[in-house]
Amino acid sequence: MRKQLFVLLAAASMAGAGISAHASESPDPAVLEQGKELFISKAAPACAVCHTLADAGSAGTIGPDLDEIKPDFAAVKKAMYEGLGVMPNFSQSLNEDEINAVASYVSHVAGK
Ligand code: HEC
Repeated sequence: MRKQLFVLLAAASMAGAGISAHASESPDPAVLEQGKELFISKAAPACAVCHTLADAGSAGTIGPDLDEIKPDFAAVKKAMYEGLGVMPNFSQSLNEDEINAVASYVSHVAGK
């Protein structure tokens, strides 16, 4: 009984690691949708205010055009955690899942 439980837990944690390792390559549609909503309006201030991103229908010009610079997952995360120039950092206002969702979304759609 104990052994079976251990095997189950080990399998579950391995499956979890697999999902996060591939998050930026083939993101879950629900995660992309969450990232898009945060980008357009739910993040405060919303990314769309400052950035152009065709998929989000945004045309902000305070920050760089994300379709042009096509940031990867890590670059979006870093900008959100640390802030950059006039871009605020989102490490207090958004949780890690939300930051990952935005990073997946932007890196997936930018330039497309
Ligand atoms: C108040 C305006 C503003 C908001 C809001 C904002 N940004 Fe930015 N962002 C900027 C500016 C300005 C820069 C360029 C800063 C520089 O290079 O000095 C930038 C840079 C970036 C970069 C490029 C980072 C790099 O490595 O060069 C990414 C990616 C980015 N922002 C994503 C986002 C996302 C995602 C959000 C929403 C969660 C967001 N930004 C919200 C203004 C903003």
